[in-house]
Amino acid sequence: MNSPSAHKIIAIDGPAASGKSSVARELARRLGFVYVNSGAMYRAITWLVLDRGIPADDAAAIEQLAESVAIACELRDRDSFVRIDGVDPEPFLREDRVNDNVSLVSSVPRVREILVDHLRRYAVTNDLVMEGRDIGSVVFPETPFKFYIDASPEIRLRRRAAQGQRDRVTARDEADSSRRASPLIIAEDAHVIDSSNLTIDGVVGEIIGRLKLKGLTIAR
Ligand code: CDP
Repeated sequence: MNSPSAHKIIAIDGPAASGKSSVARELARRLGFVYVNSGAMYRAITWLVLDRGIPADDAAAIEQLAESVAIACELRDRDSFVRIDGVDPEPFLREDRVNDNVSLVSSVPRVREILVDHLRRYAVTNDLVMEGRDIGSVVFPETPFKFYIDASPEIRLRRRAAQGQRDRVTARDEADSSRRASPLIIAEDAHVIDSSNLTIDGVVGEIIGRLKLKGLTIAR
């Protein structure tokens, strides 16, 4: 499944706690597009790896699990949900152990291939706002609508702490940016927004302005 989609895809990438999720969700709501958080898929598989007692550095066992497990992607009210091995993993996705191990599990190339295949299927029947690390660079490189949302490390740490989470965001960024398979990069045709001093509405407004300039018709 590699052919360009006939549907519109807005790719939003960036480091941990840069505000991607809030922005992507609000943008999808304003445009009437489906919202997909690709990180939730990587978190779901990480949770299953840990739940099965597989060490997060055992790439061969992780690969085997990813190849054999049932992954079901569902849409409800233009929001995406994943079931893995028949379980809704949502309550576990932000556990400390998932935060601590998700970058390692996500660095396994076969895990990425399998999840990218699932992510691309959303575009067969839907216009999308999809957020992640490699959406503009690898998942949908052909889309003309690419954004990279950043914020200073201090602000990102503060945002995550305000969510009540222990999350070593800088360690995760370092791992995500330096891995061999689909590292976090700024796609060369992405529009970069520093959200450090912007509200969610401010970032969404900037994106919508840019989308209009690029010729996207926006109804509301
Ligand atoms: O919300 P937050 O920025 O903390 O991260 P996330 O989007 O939930 O992603 C969690 C982790 O999944 C990242 O740190 C990456 O290791 C991995 N990920 C990835 O490798 N590729 C993606 N497209 C999305 C997430």
